[in-house]
Amino acid sequence: MTQRIFITGGAGFIGSRLVKALLKEEASRTIWVFDNLHPQVHGANAADPIFPKNVHFIRGDVSDGPALAKAVELANPELVYHLAAETGTGQSYDEPSRYCAVNVLGTTHLIEALREQSNVRQVVLAASRAVYGEGGYVDVRGIEYVGLPRQPEMMNAGDFTVPMPAEAVLPVRPIGSHAGLPPAPASVYASTKLMQEYLLVQAGDGAPWNATILRFQNVYGPGQSLRNPYTGVLSIFARQLLVGGELAIFEDGDIARDFVFVDDVVDALVKANAASVPHGIILDIGSGEPVSILEMARMLMRNLGVSDTSYKITGQFRIGDIRYACANITAAQSALNWVPQVSIQSGVERLAEWAKVEFKNANV
Ligand SMILES: NC(=O)c1ccc[n+]([C@@H]2O[C@H](COP(=O)([O-])OP(=O)(O)OC[C@H]3O[C@@H](n4cnc5c(N)ncnc54)[C@H](O)[C@@H]3O)[C@@H](O)[C@H]2O)c1
Repeated sequence: MTQRIFITGGAGFIGSRLVKALLKEEASRTIWVFDNLHPQVHGANAADPIFPKNVHFIRGDVSDGPALAKAVELANPELVYHLAAETGTGQSYDEPSRYCAVNVLGTTHLIEALREQSNVRQVVLAASRAVYGEGGYVDVRGIEYVGLPRQPEMMNAGDFTVPMPAEAVLPVRPIGSHAGLPPAPASVYASTKLMQEYLLVQAGDGAPWNATILRFQNVYGPGQSLRNPYTGVLSIFARQLLVGGELAIFEDGDIARDFVFVDDVVDALVKANAASVPHGIILDIGSGEPVSILEMARMLMRNLGVSDTSYKITGQFRIGDIRYACANITAAQSALNWVPQVSIQSGVERLAEWAKVEFKNANV
């Protein structure tokens, strides 16, 4: 039996590698990719991507309900991956309506389109750790709290610590985020990503399909748009370094992130297809290891062959930036039988090699 799969955003960084990975498996599959080739990601006037012959590409916008419904009807899928989204945290402050139209309304359009389909069994959402905001901390008594939003007055004075609820007994230490923590989105982007989760879980209640929510940490690797100035800190850094620039490292350089290599994320998406997981499950997908932005930037510099002192720590900050982000991946490991495979050293090396070639070929 051929499995029919519909992927929104399937021409993007994660989606295009997902398509390849799904086709590599032994199962027989036909895939429909629905993507508007967003100019911010793909450049102006991008040509349709070339996929193997059992992949059908449909150029369309998830905020166009009738177009999406028509594509879903054509695909008649059993499995849907929902990846299409506006993805810039900072940009989402400037364009909240566009972010809601694509991320929130785009999801409701998908839900309405699925109502007309009887064969859908699973919808997998590319969700984001952004829904945790400042994320989880544990105090001296072992009680978990979610950090409070950081205020500009404190950060202007060079204090980048995360305030805690009054009940927390200091000192606290950060922990890996897990689905048991209450959401605390700190940006428009994060709020729209949380809405996507709520909407899909609500719609899946009583529907013939299950919603599977995979909250990704910072995904990086070859293929992440080098031209998009709004997302993918390592791709943004790579481009700045390749044009001979100096990196501006925000705050004190100690912002921590969980960088997870794209193939590990794709592996989790593929495994979500095979896994028998309950409706509404939320799984955190990351490497499980925090790294400081400064450490990561220097590793990238060395791999790109530029001096690892090509940076300045500026003390600047962005509202909505999170101080510490890392996943607790134990739930995902056991639910999906999944383990991230790519070390940070090897992942950065692969990103740098790819970025050098892309830059040389002027594909940016
Ligand atoms: N990359 C990360 O670090 C990361 C982290 C957390 C969550 N995510 C989520 O993963 C998903 C994929 O992200 P990515 O990194 O591959 O981004 P990407 O920008 O490379 O890919 C997104 C794809 O969606 C398409 N798209 C955008 N708006 C669309 C619209 N209105 N209609 C149809 N298609 C549209 C774009 O053309 C692009 O091909 C997103 O939902 C994002 O929120 C990514």
